Amino acid sequence: MKLKSRHLLGLDGMAKEELALILDTAVSFREVLDRPIKKVPPLQGKTVVNLFFESSTRTRISFELAERRLSADVVSFSTAASSVSKGETLKDTARNIEAMKIDMVVIRHAAPGSAHFLTRVVDANIINAGDGAHEHPTQGLLDMYTLREKFGTLEGLRVCIVGDISHSRVARSNIYGLTTMGAKVSVCGPATLIPKDIQQLGVKVYHRLDEVIPEVDALNVLRIQLERQKSGLFPSLREYHRFFGVTKEKVSKASKPITIMHPGPINRDVELSADLADGEHSVILQQVTNGVAIRMAVLYLLGTTN
Ligand code: CP
Repeated sequence: MKLKSRHLLGLDGMAKEELALILDTAVSFREVLDRPIKKVPPLQGKTVVNLFFESSTRTRISFELAERRLSADVVSFSTAASSVSKGETLKDTARNIEAMKIDMVVIRHAAPGSAHFLTRVVDANIINAGDGAHEHPTQGLLDMYTLREKFGTLEGLRVCIVGDISHSRVARSNIYGLTTMGAKVSVCGPATLIPKDIQQLGVKVYHRLDEVIPEVDALNVLRIQLERQKSGLFPSLREYHRFFGVTKEKVSKASKPITIMHPGPINRDVELSADLADGEHSVILQQVTNGVAIRMAVLYLLGTTN
């Protein structure tokens, strides 16, 4: 079996079998990461360019490591040190880079649809590393991988995504992927940060953490985007923390331990208390490790079979 598309633009519309193929492929690459020599040859001779037009720590380093561990040649690009700072467009940037005979492009960009746009202007395989508030498919996949590793299956698993759902590409990719895999997904946050018709994506909506906490196996806590505070979507960080901050006291109301996830970067003691982030039920650093394996799986499947 192989993926239907030669690009990974989002998890929306991907079949259950395709998602399972990526997760299963990542299992063998996760094992490679525990070896003393963490390098395998499948992308030898291929060149991957990482185009990051937005800041990133985890995704960028994780993609670079994944590419090098698959033996690809890697070139990384940041906006400040490039001719984008002189006004060059995304299309011209991409076409000039492709003229240097590259095979795959990983792109992060503030504009929703930017990864899709690249598929129309260059021939390389395109991987979306986050496009505005649209999708962050490898984050969705690594979250699913981490949950499957912990619970054995995604079927019937109860996962709540907490926080700013409206502006979150992580929420969107998790909702598409998890619902396709049979998980029961809910979202929780202030009404101002939850899209009006989100139930149509097959999720349940909560506006109170104390109502959802007894109902779930895992909470995926999103970064509160501090810049939203100025736009009046929530009154203050203190108030947000009081009602939607996930704390030890609030999760202690559940009858069994709840797995704590966060895509990073964390605003400690705002959306998530530091003791929970570092606590025994947190899988936040496992998410980061698994991200390398997931990205190796995606690069391998697109680079060798598509
Ligand atoms: N989770 C995530 O996308 O983190 P970065 O912005 O650091 O890549």
